[in-house]
Amino acid sequence: MSDLKNIKNFNYSLEKIFPEAADFLPIMGTDYVEYYVGNAKQAAYFYKTSLGFQSLAYAGLETGMKDRTSYVVVQDKIRLVFTTPMPNDENQEIFEHITKHGDGVKVIALWVEDARKSWEETTKRGAKSYFEPRVEKDADGEVVKSGIHTYGDTVHIFVERKNYNGTFLPKFEKWESHYNPPNCGLKFIDHMVGNVGWGQMNIWGKFYREVMGFAQLISFDDKDISTEYTALMSKVMTNGNGRIKFPINEPAKGKKKSQIEEYIDFYNGAGVQHIAVATDDIVFTVSEMKKRGIEFLYVPGEYYDTVGDRVGEIAEDMELLKSHGVMVDRDDEGYLLQIFTKPLTDRPTLFFEIIQRKGAQSFGKGNFKALFESIEAEQARRGTL
Ligand code: FE2
Repeated sequence: MSDLKNIKNFNYSLEKIFPEAADFLPIMGTDYVEYYVGNAKQAAYFYKTSLGFQSLAYAGLETGMKDRTSYVVVQDKIRLVFTTPMPNDENQEIFEHITKHGDGVKVIALWVEDARKSWEETTKRGAKSYFEPRVEKDADGEVVKSGIHTYGDTVHIFVERKNYNGTFLPKFEKWESHYNPPNCGLKFIDHMVGNVGWGQMNIWGKFYREVMGFAQLISFDDKDISTEYTALMSKVMTNGNGRIKFPINEPAKGKKKSQIEEYIDFYNGAGVQHIAVATDDIVFTVSEMKKRGIEFLYVPGEYYDTVGDRVGEIAEDMELLKSHGVMVDRDDEGYLLQIFTKPLTDRPTLFFEIIQRKGAQSFGKGNFKALFESIEAEQARRGTL
């Protein structure tokens, strides 16, 4: 199972792949994703309004958090934290992160049974510590946290919350808001993709394999992911129970600039490229988000001339999918529906993918060409192709 380049011949099942992942780092799921942003209040408002998140928790001057303000929003199992620095000498890291990267993901927090052991096992295997295990307490109990660095300035924080009953974390209070737009049907994070620089994909694949005990689910080379003009390579790493999937992309040589290189230029380094969120009803999710101002990548109309032949029978009405620009792909286990937003930030960096899996466990390889041609059209408009 070492060479998984050809997805068509790779009929993986979760039972088969999991034993490859080591069990020294059991992860129950994504705990939260924290962004460092220039204006946390407005970012939270945007994610509530346009993506259907609900108010969950707040920390700031009023809760004893002096150096930063954080708003936490939730939608089913997805928790996002938006953090902005207050004038203070203790938090230069946040100011520098925002200056260098613009708004972006700083923390991919992982929910673990034992945050001390997670830190020990990973640092022992070569992870650089972000902070040592520490206990945070309030009247609702205690949380143990620890952290390690991953690609770029991104970090993983291990969160152990079995002795905690509060809304989110100590120092946070419940955020009661009179403004509660309905949700958009987002359920959980399906995968989160990191973009790394030239020649770095294998290094970070090795990091997730050796330091985090992940297994490689699949890999795509530049022949799989290229158009006439641009290319990239990707490896998908997964933890033992498959709840965490981290594809790692690096640019590849083409006639024009790879979208991964454009990202690296504007993010000033490696970082999170997209968060893929699962829905049970992609047409509902996409219609809601469009109504609320989210822009999606345009899929050329010709895509739908041949997609039916490629994916065969599906339950959804293809005309309806076409009207929303939803793409379809099939693998040995079923099919999937997916669509990508335009960047959600000023810089062409972070975007969301909406994905509905109908059996398929893959990543839409059959859509890569149409998708990347669409991204190239956007790059050309930005003058960065
Ligand atoms: Fe994706």
